[in-house]
Amino acid sequence: MEKKVIKYGLVGFGKQGSFYAKVIFNKFSFLNPDAKLAAICDIDEKRLEEAKRLYPKIPTFTDYKEMFKSGLIDVVMVETPHYIHPTIVIDAFNSGLNVLCDKPAGVYTKQVREMNEEAEKHPELLFGLMFNQRTNPLYIKAKELIDSNRLGKLTRIVWIITDWYRPDAYYNQGGWRGTWNGEGGGVLINQCPHQLDLFTWLAGLPVSVTATAKTVGRNIAVENDVSAVCEFANGATGVFITSTHDAPGTNRLEITGEGGKIVIENDTLVFTENEQMESEFSKTNTVFMGKPKTKVTKMNGYIGYLKNLKKQPPQHVGIVRNYTDFLLKKTDKFIAPGKEGIIGLTFSNAIHLSAWTHKTVTLPLDEEEFIKELEKRKEEENKNNLGI
Ligand SMILES: NC(=O)c1ccc[n+]([C@@H]2O[C@H](COP(=O)([O-])OP(=O)(O)OC[C@H]3O[C@@H](n4cnc5c(N)ncnc54)[C@H](O)[C@@H]3O)[C@@H](O)[C@H]2O)c1
Repeated sequence: MEKKVIKYGLVGFGKQGSFYAKVIFNKFSFLNPDAKLAAICDIDEKRLEEAKRLYPKIPTFTDYKEMFKSGLIDVVMVETPHYIHPTIVIDAFNSGLNVLCDKPAGVYTKQVREMNEEAEKHPELLFGLMFNQRTNPLYIKAKELIDSNRLGKLTRIVWIITDWYRPDAYYNQGGWRGTWNGEGGGVLINQCPHQLDLFTWLAGLPVSVTATAKTVGRNIAVENDVSAVCEFANGATGVFITSTHDAPGTNRLEITGEGGKIVIENDTLVFTENEQMESEFSKTNTVFMGKPKTKVTKMNGYIGYLKNLKKQPPQHVGIVRNYTDFLLKKTDKFIAPGKEGIIGLTFSNAIHLSAWTHKTVTLPLDEEEFIKELEKRKEEENKNNLGI
């Protein structure tokens, strides 16, 4: 694309859309000099009034299809509730527009598969996802250590991410959040898509999943407490634990391979590297209860949200910067391709399905069974007046 400035149109001016307008396209716009906010769309007139008050020069729309036809934008940023993400993305491709969609890619894999198929029909258009945590230097370092085989053959990945605390007030605000009908799940579909993406980005997609998903201490129908055990094709084991009710919570990722162990916690990565791969050591060592010698290296992460501005800006600003640069051919590295959204979502759907059916789920996922089970929960929620 031979353009100097990339013009973005927001679909959805709620919490996240308005945050991007303020932070990415205004306060920190100097970090994204080639990206401009060019149009805003929301079906809620009150939200649009707010947009007009804050950004009087930016055209607004109530119908996203009108915005797509306007000729004002190059990229659609999708910032609506999840169920409608794939519909908007497909409509954008059919209008000849590039897409940067927020997480999750959608609620169920069948819908997201169709979206990916449409993306493949438009190779000239760029499709990205807002997986902002992929810009975290600690996860990037972990990926480098795995991809370069410093960690050796993976044996275990364990992530306990229980610091997404959400009190009653969060769910009592009503609307689409925390409902099967409005959102399509709880912690797995709202808070955790980032970690489910990173878990599968680092270790790959498991081949089987056994999980529990419960609702603890909140008047909601969706899950806010999940424990999943999974297995990978190479025999490695994974554990994924998440909740939105533990206080205080934990965020600790531990990945073990024959070459050592990576632990990411408290914004620090600690790599304890074996001097010899564990399997070689075990074969050659002659000392009873001997252990491989290790070397420890540490790396610190963020000093705070958008505080370290000397480097490529992280998080959401970094994703938009990378998306814009890639579109302008200023970089050949694309951090979060849209078609990868289905990977973490497959893991998420498999966890749900295993918890619902009390069975181990093997992949590829039975997409129809997932939809049937999801529909049951939507109906049940309506019966109990817990929906939107
Ligand atoms: N990447 C992140 O860190 C992050 C953080 C929070 C939320 N999100 C994601 O952002 C998305 C939006 O979340 P939110 O918290 O802003 O929700 P929200 O409810 O505050 O805002 C959604 C907005 O979309 C509008 N909308 C709904 N349907 C529409 C349509 N057909 N056309 C135009 N506008 C429409 C609503 O009126 C509302 O203003 C979700 O997918 C959520 O998962 C991402």
